[in-house]
Amino acid sequence: MRVEDLVYFCAPARLIVGTGARAQLPALLKRLNYRRGLLVTDTFFTAHTPWVKELVDGARAEGIDLLVYDGGMADPTTTLCDAATAVVRERLAGALVDHVIALGGGSTIDLAKALCLTLPSGQPVGSFVGMIDAATPILPLVALPTTAGTGSEATPGAILVDPANATKVAVMDNRLRPGIALIDPEFTYTCPPRVTADAGIDALTHAIESYLTLDSVRFDRGGQPDPGYSGRNALTMLFARESIALCARYLMRSYLDGSDTEARIGMSYASVYAALSYGSAGLNAVHGIAYAVAGMTHQSHGSTNAVMLPYVLDALRDERGEELLTIARMFGVDDADVNTAVARLPAVVRDLVGALGIPTDIRRFGVARTELDRLTGDALGVARLATAFPVADVPARYAQVVANAWQGHLSFDDLAADDTRRVA
Ligand SMILES: NC(=O)c1ccc[n+]([C@@H]2O[C@H](COP(=O)([O-])OP(=O)(O)OC[C@H]3O[C@@H](n4cnc5c(N)ncnc54)[C@H](O)[C@@H]3O)[C@@H](O)[C@H]2O)c1
Repeated sequence: MRVEDLVYFCAPARLIVGTGARAQLPALLKRLNYRRGLLVTDTFFTAHTPWVKELVDGARAEGIDLLVYDGGMADPTTTLCDAATAVVRERLAGALVDHVIALGGGSTIDLAKALCLTLPSGQPVGSFVGMIDAATPILPLVALPTTAGTGSEATPGAILVDPANATKVAVMDNRLRPGIALIDPEFTYTCPPRVTADAGIDALTHAIESYLTLDSVRFDRGGQPDPGYSGRNALTMLFARESIALCARYLMRSYLDGSDTEARIGMSYASVYAALSYGSAGLNAVHGIAYAVAGMTHQSHGSTNAVMLPYVLDALRDERGEELLTIARMFGVDDADVNTAVARLPAVVRDLVGALGIPTDIRRFGVARTELDRLTGDALGVARLATAFPVADVPARYAQVVANAWQGHLSFDDLAADDTRRVA
C-alpha cells in the first residue's frame, strides 16, 4: 500500500490458469448461457493442433455452436479485420453470435477484440479508432493465449497495423477486456524458439516498464470516468515484481528448451502477471520508441521492445534507482555498491536480449544515423506513452535513449572501460 495511490484496477472478470484448464471451457460457456460463438484462430491451430476440433466438439456437446474463422495473421491490419468482418457476417447470414473466442497469440486476440466491435454493425474498424461511443455494442470475448506473452488477454486494447500510413493504431475500451482469460500453459508448448523469445521478452518489458512508469497520483486520466490506463500503484507493482522474478528464472530456460514444462508454466504466469500490472498502470518509452522502430523497420513487436529496453532502463537511473536495484537483485546482480549494481542491470538485460538472438542496437535493424531525429519525433508522437515517461524533459531523454540505442552504448560500458584502464 502507498498512501498517495489512486487505484483504478481493471482485470478480466474470470481469470483461469492451469495446465489442461481448456477442458473446463465448454461447461463454463454453457453456464454463461452462450449458444452460438465465433472461434477466431489461424491456420497453424486448425492444421497442426487438436485444440480447435476439441473446442468445437466440446462446445457442441454442451449445445453450443462454434463457427471457426482461421484467417488470423501475425500483426493484423485494419484491412484484414474489415475483410474478416465481411466474411464472418456473410457466413452468419444475418444471425449474430453471442460471444467470440480467440485461440492464438497476441495477434489473434487483437483481431478477435476488433471483431467483437465490428461484427454487430459491420462498420470498418477504423471508425472506432480514438473513441468508442458508450452506446456501441461490444460482444463478450474469451481469450485463450497460445504465447507467453503479450498479455492481450487482460488489456483493454487491440493493436492493428494501418496500411495507409504503416503505423499501428489502437482501438481501446475497458469493455474490450476479455470476460474470460483462460491461460492453459500447454497451449504454449508448441511455440518455436523465435516466438518464445519475442513473446517472453515482451512479457518482461511489460512488467519492467509498468513497474517504473508514472505514479497513479501524477497520471493524467484526461477526465475519463473509465480510464484504460491510470499509472502505477502498489497493486500493479505487486504483479510486476512477481512477473520480473519469474522472467529472470524462466525466460532463458523456456527459449533454450521448449520441452521444459516448468519454465513454460512459469512464463505463462509471468505473462499474465505482467498484463495485470501494465493492463492498468500502462507503459511508456520502451513501447513508445519501439512502435516507431517497428514502423520504420517492420521488425516484430517483441524484438523492437527488446532492443530498446536496456537503453530506457539506463536513462532512468536517477528517477527509478531504487526499483532498478530491486530488479538487478532479481537478475542476480550482487555488486555491493548500489550505483554499480544499478548501472550493471541494463548491461545484464542487453546480454539477455543478445542471448535470445535479438539485435542489441537499432543500427542492426537497419536504422540509419540520419533517421534518428525522425524516429525520435515519431516516438514522441505516441503522446499517451511519452507523457507517462517519469522524467522532467521527455523529448531530450527520448533523443538520448535513441542515440544510445543506435550506438549500442550504456553508461555501464564507461564504468567497465574505466575499470579496465585502472587495472592496466
Ligand atoms: N493488445 C495488446 O494488449 C497487445 C499487447 C502486446 C502485443 N500485442 C500485439 O501482439 C502481437 C504479437 O503477438 P505474439 O507475440 O503473441 O505473436 P503472434 O500472435 O503475432 O504470433 C506469431 C506467430 O507465432 C505463431 N504461434 C502462436 N502461438 C503458437 C504456438 N503455441 N505454437 C506455434 N506457433 C504459434 C502464430 O501462428 C504466428 O505465426 C503484435 O501484433 C502486437 O502488436 C497486443
